[in-house]
Amino acid sequence: MSFSGKLCSADLVLFGATGDLVKRKILPALYNAFCDGNVDKKTRLICLGRGEMELEDYIESAYTYAVEAKNVIDHTKWREFAQQFSYLQINATDSSTFKPLADILDQTRTNIYYLSTAPELFKQISSNLAEHGLNHSMSRIVLEKPLGNDLASSNDINDHVAQFFKEDQIYRIDHFLGKESVQNLMALRFGNTLFEALWRRQWIRSVQITVAEEISVGSRGDFYEHTGALRDMLQNHLLQMLCIVAMEPPSSLDANVIRGEKLKVLRSLKHLSEEDVHHNVIRGQYKSGAIGGKPVKGYLGEENVDPNSKVETFVALKAEIQNWRWAGVPFYLRTGKCMQEKVAEIVIEFKDIPCKIFPASGNFANRLIIRIQPEETVKLFFLAKEPGDTNRLQPVYLDLDFSKMFTSRRTDGYERLLLDIIRGNLSLFVSRDEQNAAWQWVEPILDTWKMHKITPKQYTAGTWGPAASSALLARDGYYWHEEIA
Ligand code: BG6
Repeated sequence: MSFSGKLCSADLVLFGATGDLVKRKILPALYNAFCDGNVDKKTRLICLGRGEMELEDYIESAYTYAVEAKNVIDHTKWREFAQQFSYLQINATDSSTFKPLADILDQTRTNIYYLSTAPELFKQISSNLAEHGLNHSMSRIVLEKPLGNDLASSNDINDHVAQFFKEDQIYRIDHFLGKESVQNLMALRFGNTLFEALWRRQWIRSVQITVAEEISVGSRGDFYEHTGALRDMLQNHLLQMLCIVAMEPPSSLDANVIRGEKLKVLRSLKHLSEEDVHHNVIRGQYKSGAIGGKPVKGYLGEENVDPNSKVETFVALKAEIQNWRWAGVPFYLRTGKCMQEKVAEIVIEFKDIPCKIFPASGNFANRLIIRIQPEETVKLFFLAKEPGDTNRLQPVYLDLDFSKMFTSRRTDGYERLLLDIIRGNLSLFVSRDEQNAAWQWVEPILDTWKMHKITPKQYTAGTWGPAASSALLARDGYYWHEEIA
């Protein structure tokens, strides 16, 4: 499938347009696509919010917010882009307020409803759209994560939305799948012969997937209190990355084929017993500390957070995939807020050589490190002989930096996904079956934490998480990548 060429025009309806996600990520992504000539001039952006607001005020407030969130935006160009905006006041729970929306939409055009609201509103919004005949064959609905709080609530939402929209009209977004380097992992695995022969239990000792963030929960305390790191990050972003690392080669880039292969991985994840949860899952919460030399308050002191909260801001765990390719290879996953560095990376650790003829080279293992962010790099670590009259070996690495290899702008995850929604390409979106399988797998963790009242271990902001996270690997004879590098 070719992704070049002009896109057709569409009406993009943004529910929750005054919220953080739309202003910080979605509008800036669309702005970039607009600057690249990828948003048709006839495409309309219909921004919906609960409050009454003049369009002019919305345009300027969205600009200020986006710039403060470190997006690079030229004001003149933004004003040009904003000519495609309109703003409507809407109450998601009051069907009558959908009438003005229905009046301006044209059912012969592609209508895309992007639900960037609390998931509790998804049912009501889809019903109200249907009540006004807006769920026609040219319409698509985009659901932001987390979809529900557990399998039952996710099923409840999915069942409800399915009454009005067919599965191929539903785009469940996981923006990590839109990131260049996550897709590059597919290219690395399935566009080259080099790794496939090694990509299996016979040659790989362990896999680590880390998504560490320096930021705190900030103004999202209320959201976090209902979510936590397991639901916010691990159930979706990290498991999706695991799928791409572990999936079998798909026969094509067709959406159903790719989603089918990822689903097989999710269904092969070894069920976690209560005992596994006790031993192999670490729950953490940041306490005050410092990041980049600046003091940071603890989670319990954040706005809209219960001072006795037991919600986790960090989770690390060991997963296993029970299939022929991966049986016996531990997959260590870890994510957290207020950590030492912002980094998302996948570390593939290869097995040791069968016998050594060089003097002992310590704890070395060949490693392939795929860095998703902030840099997009692939590094391959191996041993090479030190120059001179010696047989000593030293670790060295091949370093591929995509920002140097490709001079064209690297698109943000949201930009690629938004353009795919307009194109009608579902391959980078999560199917309902995948989502169910992911919830099914994490549910024993949620249940065990609840049943046994497992409270998070504290970690100092600006570190790599609680000590128990290092111990989880050390017990099996492994180390997190930064502990070796
Ligand atoms: C979102 C989570 O899905 O991903 C946030 O809700 C998190 O808590 C964000 O900060 C991380 O995404 P990115 O692209 O900024 O690494």
